[in-house]
Amino acid sequence: MTTEPTRPAGTAPSPRPPAGVGADAGADTGDEIERAVAVLRAGGLVALPTETVYGLGADARNAEAVRRVFAVKGRPADHPLIVHLASADQLDDWARDVPPVARVLADAFWPGPLTLVLWRAPGVPDVVTGGRDTVAVRVPDHPVARALLERFGDGIAAPSANRFGRVSPTTAAHVRADLGADVDLVLDGGPCRVGVESTIVDLTGAEPEILRPGGVGLDRLTDAIGSAPHRWSGATPARAPGMLAAHYAPRAQVRVVTADGVTEAARVALASGRVVGVLAPGATDGLPVEVIELEPAGPGPDYARALYDRLRQADRLGIEVLLAVAPPDDDLGAAVADRLRRAEAGGGVTPT
Ligand code: TXA
Ligand code: MG
Repeated sequence: MTTEPTRPAGTAPSPRPPAGVGADAGADTGDEIERAVAVLRAGGLVALPTETVYGLGADARNAEAVRRVFAVKGRPADHPLIVHLASADQLDDWARDVPPVARVLADAFWPGPLTLVLWRAPGVPDVVTGGRDTVAVRVPDHPVARALLERFGDGIAAPSANRFGRVSPTTAAHVRADLGADVDLVLDGGPCRVGVESTIVDLTGAEPEILRPGGVGLDRLTDAIGSAPHRWSGATPARAPGMLAAHYAPRAQVRVVTADGVTEAARVALASGRVVGVLAPGATDGLPVEVIELEPAGPGPDYARALYDRLRQADRLGIEVLLAVAPPDDDLGAAVADRLRRAEAGGGVTPT
């Protein structure tokens, strides 16, 4: 039987709602952008909506401000940040020896959910790149992010606006619930359209290499490049700092199962006396009545948009074991499957 969750979907209220920032998706007024620019110029932190997930932004030229990002996230210093730009015209301010394929990909996908790893230009602060000789850059596609970047005029370093190892935020409420007063200003741009992070392509090797599947699917990348890019195997961790197996984890223990195996897996998990939930692309027939079936997430793009919210919902519902059926492994499905596998590797955290 299908059981729709009935508990309220609210998240914890922010301890300090930023003055004047409303809950409306249309909260990107010029005044707020001006205020956000002032916060960035003063070395503060601004949470900004992008089409993928919300970012925790700092002036990428201000090492002290960027250090605050690491402190607030609890993120190791050797996990570099993505520098967000208003346009590909700024590429050469941040990267050197930019190969032609970078321009091709920028033309094809920017603004959009693609991050390029390139050789870093002189003067890019070490703290942004984790001391590496490469820098990750992207031009996001969200009207609020774009307005802020255009008005700010330079790079904004921004990781996802969550504590290290936790689920990325796809609404302003997620950001406030997770980071609270540690962020100086939250720009509310509504729910994120893509819902999973950008695809990261490393262009500093002999061939383009995908370090993280994300909002731009493999087929589209292959079309733009003219041949299939390599997919990072995990065998060369030095290439992809921060690509931890255990990441994106809710408190619930996630187990990735097949559609055929979910009912049996649910019986086994229930037998251990735990609260069991199911997340799948479509409705699942024949589940034991005790199982909490989360609202079906849909095919690839819908699943991607819903994924992080569903993982948070699982925690709110007290689910201890979340059986997750991945969508088909194409387009955005690959990114969803990747995040589910990482959440599974996270092993779950026992709520205290
Ligand atoms: O969609 C996104 O990419 C979001 C939004 C906010 O833009 N950002 C995001 O940032 O997911 P973050 O920090 O959560 O993940 C960035 C990833 C990290 O795994 C980091 O290690 C990798 O990018 N990265 C950054 N600079 C790199 C570099 N120079 N070489 C290799 N990997 C890099
Ligand atoms: Mg992140």
